[in-house]
Amino acid sequence: MSKINKAVIPAAGFGTRFLPITKSFPKEMLPIIDIPNIQHLVKEAVLSGIKDILIIISKSKMEIVDYFKDNNSLYDFLEKSGKKEEVKMLKKITSMANISFAYQKAPKGLGDAILCAEEFASNQPFAVLLGDDLVDYDTIPATKELIETYQETKSTIVGCKEIDEKDLHKFGVVKPKDKISYPYFEICDFVEKPKDISLAPSKVASLGRYVLTPDIFPALKKTKKGVGGEIQLTDAIKSLIETKKVFVRLFSGKRYDIGSKFGYIQAIIDCALKRDELKEEVISYMKEIVK
Ligand code: G1P
Repeated sequence: MSKINKAVIPAAGFGTRFLPITKSFPKEMLPIIDIPNIQHLVKEAVLSGIKDILIIISKSKMEIVDYFKDNNSLYDFLEKSGKKEEVKMLKKITSMANISFAYQKAPKGLGDAILCAEEFASNQPFAVLLGDDLVDYDTIPATKELIETYQETKSTIVGCKEIDEKDLHKFGVVKPKDKISYPYFEICDFVEKPKDISLAPSKVASLGRYVLTPDIFPALKKTKKGVGGEIQLTDAIKSLIETKKVFVRLFSGKRYDIGSKFGYIQAIIDCALKRDELKEEVISYMKEIVK
């Protein structure tokens, strides 16, 4: 059984939905309270059995590189101030996985970003986690579920959920080959951001988790610009369907669209309610303001 022990996190985009903060700050570093979103993605990958992670960035995202590096002067300062627990916590972050970086030269789309991972993948299947989709990993990490389906099918897997019709135009939408069945099913078409509801082949949307096989690279190299003038991963996966099987895994964790302001707020509230040191205060504050 070929194990999946690599993951790719594309993080080179401009984050225009979150301006102005993203003018000079990577959207992947936006905190869910005190933890940057990208750390949640790394944790999800690690909890899914992955050791090697490639983060694809642009030159303006060095904050991400710094975050996963040791900061010895900070450690020294904390040690001297008797804050040993903090040092332990910080060191855990930098040692949780083997993290490396690749640079996407220009923002030419998700498909182009994935092409930067060809050498890293070294002809092996790998997981992909997109930063706008934070998925709760407390019960079972979405990536782990996708890997399970990969082990059974040895094919490309797209992580999906059924969503509200009105939101379909924001996502890649799949067409089941036969019928939608839980937890996974084969697809026969994949449409990136259908302009019109009549063009959406189902209500099942791709929500930022994939397991890709190495044949994605030749497919991406042949993929022409698609929606938004960008090289779309969806189009490359769609081209694979002509000769190979592609499956959807309906993952079970709650998903937050943290690229949207409301989704981001939801993620923060839910996260606060899960933290013992915050829960009581947050609940009583919420009761007070909704009176
Ligand atoms: C990307 C993909 C899209 C997918 C979405 C999930 O779009 O192209 O197929 O449904 O992520 O968040 P983006 O949101 O980067 O425009």
